[in-house]
Amino acid sequence: MKPKVLVTRRWPEAAEAYVRDHYDATINMGERLTKAQLIDAMREFDGLCPSGGDRLDAEVLGTPDARVKMIANFGVGFEHIDLEAAKTAGIAVSNTPDVLSEATADIAILLMLMTSRRAYEGEQQVRTGAWRGWGARHLLGQSLEGKTLGLFGMGRIGQETARKAARAFGMKIAYHSRKPVDADIEAELGAVYVPSLEGLAEMSDVLSLHAPGGPTTRHAVDAGLLRRMKPTAILINTARGTLIDEAALAGALRERTIWAAGLDVYEQEPIVHPDLIDLPNVVLLPHLGSATIETRVAMGLRAAANLDAFFAGEPVRDRIA
Ligand code: 8YV
Repeated sequence: MKPKVLVTRRWPEAAEAYVRDHYDATINMGERLTKAQLIDAMREFDGLCPSGGDRLDAEVLGTPDARVKMIANFGVGFEHIDLEAAKTAGIAVSNTPDVLSEATADIAILLMLMTSRRAYEGEQQVRTGAWRGWGARHLLGQSLEGKTLGLFGMGRIGQETARKAARAFGMKIAYHSRKPVDADIEAELGAVYVPSLEGLAEMSDVLSLHAPGGPTTRHAVDAGLLRRMKPTAILINTARGTLIDEAALAGALRERTIWAAGLDVYEQEPIVHPDLIDLPNVVLLPHLGSATIETRVAMGLRAAANLDAFFAGEPVRDRIA
């Protein structure tokens, strides 16, 4: 008997095919599941494959008579899963690290280029017919060459972003995280540890966020931190929307106390703070960090490999609870 597994959102074909071949699989073809549906699923399946935004809180994980024993999350971030509640319920949890680091770092670089070179404003001028032709003062941006990239969070995605920025633009790398990374990683990236986020904000030409979501990092970038940033500074967020107080950011962009922001994630996805929508100096992407065919297939196969290990009674490579 194959274990019964529920995939809560559609995956790319190759990843869905693997799960269908190896499990008694149900793939939700519709909208995001409601809390009531998640609770029903806890009773019906042996394994769940949720994605970011599927809230697996203590109530869902503590469902009486639950059958689920393994949750293989499709994604690296797991702030939507209450790991303590999972442990209490005796449910194993895994995520999909590594396979999306490059793709997400690419989006951070894309946002750096789009903001520094004012790509959104240019696009708008072309598409609306407002472009009046070449001019030596037209839409002047800033070069990234040799500037200081400050990274808040220096996990796999932060490191990949640093590597690409250093190689492509010779950016100098500074970072703040709970503790410094290994000396060999610092040496490879030429990265300097800054003991406070405030200090990092003051020195950065580009401040890029790579810390996890959840209550401890909520509004790490607030009005006070934004005031410390240079008027020429750019803020990039490919991590979690909750890291930024969006109302405060909109104020800083409107008053031009910072130069620009590039965002891929939001406090209340898919809702974007209305004050951000009309600003010319913010680039807004719809959570595209890991959205390449290669990466999304790799994420699905990695989640499936974690399921395979669990149901074979073997150690789960990416186990987080
Ligand atoms: C996912 C992400 O696409 O992996 C993560 O944590 O943010 C994205 O790459 C999304 O969250 C689906 O789980």
